[in-house]
Amino acid sequence: MVISMLSCSSAKYSESFTPGELWKDNNGVHINAHSGGMLFVNGKYYWFGEHKTEGEEGNLANAGVHCYSSEDLYNWVDEGIALAVDPENSNSIIEKGCILERPKVIFNTKTKKYVMWFHLEPKGQGYKGALSGVAISDNITGPYKFIHARRANAGHWPLNVTEWHKTGTIPSKGQSYGGGSLPAHPDSLNILARDMMDGQMARDMTLFVDDDGKAYHIYSSEENSTLHIALLSDDYTNHSGIYTRNFVGRFMEAPAMFKRDGKYYLMMSGCTGWSPNQARSAVADSILGEWKELGDPCIGDTTKTTFHSQSTYILPVQGKRNQYIYMGDRWHPQNAIDGRYVWLPVDFQGEHFFIRWRDRWNLKDL
Ligand code: DGJ
Repeated sequence: MVISMLSCSSAKYSESFTPGELWKDNNGVHINAHSGGMLFVNGKYYWFGEHKTEGEEGNLANAGVHCYSSEDLYNWVDEGIALAVDPENSNSIIEKGCILERPKVIFNTKTKKYVMWFHLEPKGQGYKGALSGVAISDNITGPYKFIHARRANAGHWPLNVTEWHKTGTIPSKGQSYGGGSLPAHPDSLNILARDMMDGQMARDMTLFVDDDGKAYHIYSSEENSTLHIALLSDDYTNHSGIYTRNFVGRFMEAPAMFKRDGKYYLMMSGCTGWSPNQARSAVADSILGEWKELGDPCIGDTTKTTFHSQSTYILPVQGKRNQYIYMGDRWHPQNAIDGRYVWLPVDFQGEHFFIRWRDRWNLKDL
């Protein structure tokens, strides 16, 4: 059954999180910001995510990127569409009906611009484009102006390229590969070399700004088989050509990165379309690697589905040192607008982080 608008009576003031339940904004409408990210500016959190619509077609970008604001993380004000898709038949690469996923926004202190990155697939072409879109704005809530969409790091080898990649056989460009898990397309296919000149594929993605102001694009590349971590240009609108390959052949999707006490952490999923799968985690002393896998961070997740969700962001809570919230999506692909949000506290032990289920919780539980 398609739930119309997912709206109810006016929203009540809330003081807790209820993972997986409907989450109403200030207008009493279920929040529409899927596979999102967060930015904290001048005392407010801003949540950006995919605006989904009803039905299966609602997984396509029919509106754009939605923005909400909050001072307390429980109660959210609808700030409208921050980046709108262009009208149908406009010949724009971001026209209505394209695939526009996992938007993230960061602020560049030198240019004073808000910079949004997202995974873009031109309309009607499935997932083979694997482009990275960029849009900028002077105001956090937008409107964002689309500036370009490209493959990543064209013409550059990664820092950890091997001689074999440079000289090995290159697979044909016409060959298509399924979403995949091993051994669908192992490293020996040399997809890295195939895409060297035209640029690397980038699908699921996130952004991370380090303490020194350098920003990174973290994306599933090489037909989803390998995660790339790439330094952005100083203005955050381009790749710099400096990047590394990580978790080769592990098919990591949905990357979410955070830093704690000088160490970098990643949470990721496996690669099973809209169906949830077992979470993965990793730690590194340097953002460009080497990364060490730590295993599934979810405790008591008996179905091994990341509590029926998929990671999108790990949010540092403002004013609370070393406290973080896991943000995940519980997809509802047959009626995309009904996708839910699973937010849970992140715990730490040694160099590991952990996530446990709670039916209801609040920031005092951190
Ligand atoms: C899993 C990804 O994590 C999502 O962002 C989306 O691309 C779906 N696959 C599409 O099947």
